[in-house]
Amino acid sequence: MKLIIGSDHAGYTLKDAVCSYLRAKGHEVQDVGATFLPDGEMMDPSQRHYPLVAERVGTEVASGTDTRGILICGTGIGIGIAANKIPGIRAATCTNHFEVRYARLHNDINILCLGARILAPEFAFELCDLFLETPFEGGRHAMRVEMIRELEKKY
Ligand code: RB5
Repeated sequence: MKLIIGSDHAGYTLKDAVCSYLRAKGHEVQDVGATFLPDGEMMDPSQRHYPLVAERVGTEVASGTDTRGILICGTGIGIGIAANKIPGIRAATCTNHFEVRYARLHNDINILCLGARILAPEFAFELCDLFLETPFEGGRHAMRVEMIRELEKKY
């Protein structure tokens, strides 16, 4: 599985720590950083707007196969809202193990959103592990995920 990881300025330090942690565990990690503009120019550190990073990671995850994303901002909320605007993305902002577990089992999330101002790094690492290890349960939940895809087509 390939992982695409990005953050805004508030999530930058935790994003670097998460990338190092997951690489050390042998995962294939693409760090899109937080330093680009749509035209590829470097961005001022104070202007690393989370919608741009969410778009970058979201479009790569949506178009990839066996690809998941991790997005980090201050709360994990803004970056999650932005990512969910991209068709094919099911992003969830999670603050504990239960949320991550069921977001994978029932909702088949393909992007985990984390809040750097909320989570201690070690705790965030555990949530990332759970996100990557937990399978989608399928069954009755597959029909509901399909209904989400239908909503994307409808609006
Ligand atoms: C940036 O100050 C902050 O608003 C952002 O990181 C995030 O928390 C938004 O949801």
